[in-house]
Amino acid sequence: MTRITVKVDGSSFTDEVEPRTLLVLYLREQLGKTGTVVGCDTGNCGACTVHLDGRSVKSCSLLAVQADGHEITTIEGLATNGELHPMQQAFHENHALQCGYCTPGMIMQSIDLIADNPNPSDEDIRHGLEGNLCRCTGYQNIVKAVQAAAAAAPAAPAAAQHSAVGGAQ
Ligand code: FES
Ligand code: FES
Repeated sequence: MTRITVKVDGSSFTDEVEPRTLLVLYLREQLGKTGTVVGCDTGNCGACTVHLDGRSVKSCSLLAVQADGHEITTIEGLATNGELHPMQQAFHENHALQCGYCTPGMIMQSIDLIADNPNPSDEDIRHGLEGNLCRCTGYQNIVKAVQAAAAAAPAAPAAAQHSAVGGAQ
């Protein structure tokens, strides 16, 4: 077992993990962060996307020990004071989900996408979400939601937005 210390959704955790434990399984099974889900376990679907130090990563593609000393934000850490994150709100208002299984990962990836590109075209959004698969929606309303969130967000340098994403939870 290896001892790791991580900050997840604003709280610090120190735990013993097996060196082979995937980050997504550590989040779900040891921390109870079941909002982050497993779709494929092979890095293909994006359902497990979280932010590591403010950048999106597929948490089934990292070991928990690789997160040692880092800050993680999951879908459960986005809302503040009972208010949905603007991207969560945009997904809700634009009916950008059906079963919802892909939604946590879609939202985490979409936040990273508009932090890098605050004024994305539809094509930019589709390209930026290529690693996140949805079996239900046909993607059209997801693109609309990301456009709505981008339009609602104050223009800010990507670095500042990443800092805000990583630090506000
Ligand atoms: S569960 Fe991680 S990419 Fe599918
Ligand atoms: S809403 Fe069902 S997989 Fe995307």
